[in-house]
Amino acid sequence: MGSQAEDQDLSRSSAAKYSLKYFENKMKVGLGTGSTAEALVQEIAARNLQNELDLTFVSTSTRTTKLADSLGLRISELSEVKHLDLVLDGTDEFDSGLSLIKGGGGALLQEKIVASSADSMKVIASISKKVDVLGKFPLPIEIIRFGWVSTLERLDNLFASSGITFNSKSMRTEDNKFYVTDEGHFIVDYSFEQIHDPYALEQLINQIVGVVECGLFVGLCDQVITGTRDGIIEVFDCDG
Ligand code: A5P
Repeated sequence: MGSQAEDQDLSRSSAAKYSLKYFENKMKVGLGTGSTAEALVQEIAARNLQNELDLTFVSTSTRTTKLADSLGLRISELSEVKHLDLVLDGTDEFDSGLSLIKGGGGALLQEKIVASSADSMKVIASISKKVDVLGKFPLPIEIIRFGWVSTLERLDNLFASSGITFNSKSMRTEDNKFYVTDEGHFIVDYSFEQIHDPYALEQLINQIVGVVECGLFVGLCDQVITGTRDGIIEVFDCDG
């Protein structure tokens, strides 16, 4: 039996390998962010799929772009490509309705823009990301740096007046400084424990001045492909 980290690695990479079957000739594809998306990028490069299938790629973060560049993949700008056939991304949690919590890797804003520009969003993940109710993973909320303390106050007041309780909140940090996203914003992580209505919460949060986006992805993902360390694949559809 391997370690938990080893299990995660193997389950991610089995899901990433399986997801290659969704590529078709000349497709325009969004590449997600995180370790699972990175396993996918490595597979694409190792099999020379960009050249073989004449694929156009758009990236969801500087992290993914850097890796893709280093492996010889060509990345195009979303503003030039405009519309994508498919995006393949990881997730921090998913439920049976295929609502997601994303943003553990800090790229939720670009990930949501890219997913919203694609005909289909498929998520690849280890089976450990499946939950009955979203919320164990703290929800990332991307906020504008200017006046961030006031934005947090508005969020707290909104939750209090809407009867939404949270266990804790913390500003995301990196190297003892506030973490700054690719688009120059801060992230605050709210631990709700249980999010029973992800759509309602997403709408509520996104109406607050100073909030750029939150990590709830509702109605965007149409399939989740999960793997286990033994290579067993399970595909979840949004109505299944
Ligand atoms: C990046 O911002 C996130 O949304 C990732 O998709 C998510 O954190 C999954 O990452 P892993 O594949 O590393 O678990």
